[in-house]
Amino acid sequence: MSDRRGGSNSTGGVRADLKQRVKTARGRTVSQKRWLERQLNDPYVARAKREGYRSRAAYKLIEIDERCKLLKPGQRIVDLGAAPGGWSQVAARTVGPEGRIVGIDLLEIEPMAGVEFITLDFLDPAAPARLTEMLGGPADLVMSDMAANATGHKKTDHLRIIGLAETAAEFAREVLAPGGAYLAKVLQGGTEGALLTDLKRDFATVRHIKPPASRADSSELYVLATGYRGPAGRAVAESDED
Ligand SMILES: C[S@@+](CC[C@H](N)C(=O)[O-])C[C@H]1O[C@@H](n2cnc3c(N)ncnc32)[C@H](O)[C@@H]1O
Repeated sequence: MSDRRGGSNSTGGVRADLKQRVKTARGRTVSQKRWLERQLNDPYVARAKREGYRSRAAYKLIEIDERCKLLKPGQRIVDLGAAPGGWSQVAARTVGPEGRIVGIDLLEIEPMAGVEFITLDFLDPAAPARLTEMLGGPADLVMSDMAANATGHKKTDHLRIIGLAETAAEFAREVLAPGGAYLAKVLQGGTEGALLTDLKRDFATVRHIKPPASRADSSELYVLATGYRGPAGRAVAESDED
């Protein structure tokens, strides 16, 4: 990757004195001003603009895929929390016309060739059935970049993001083909307990990944489970524990 944060290359090493500052604070809260300033000085934001990705988040999936070789031509993929569509763009590029990508978000998403989106809360009881119908067959990958708006209360934010990851994992168990994978955003220290135990039971390998595009000062990281055992394999794993 040529433009990692904190590097001294043309995009990553923005010197403090050259940093763009948000000139007017009028009508903006301190945190909005800080967010805007960070966006203006973020090399991944500039790169996404240059390379036509809808979000800087696209590079997180690109980097995870470079390391873990998740995406393959012809796959069926579910993109949870897909807006504005960066991950779907990355996935669509690899799966090609033989594949199928379905995405869901609370926010409306601009149409994208090769991807079908619905605007719906993933926690809505109707969401799993809608997505399953749109998929038209078992999935190879369920990926979730869902994040609820931060409340600022650490424990609440933690519980909310883990709740989303757990619901995504439940859905993954329903739609994944044996051998399939699950990728979800979590927060550091948050994948202990039930989620991790269940993933280890249902998948051959489980690991955590912090891609370089994920901000170093954020506790965000991703849990990746590969080699879904399927309902039958799950029963075997359970009896092995007895
Ligand atoms: C970090 S953004 C995703 C960025 C996306 N991966 C990309 O590359 O463009 C997180 C998204 O999760 C969505 N989200 C949060 N909770 C959700 C829910 N319950 N159902 C659907 N989407 C949700 C938010 O609306 C937001 O658009």
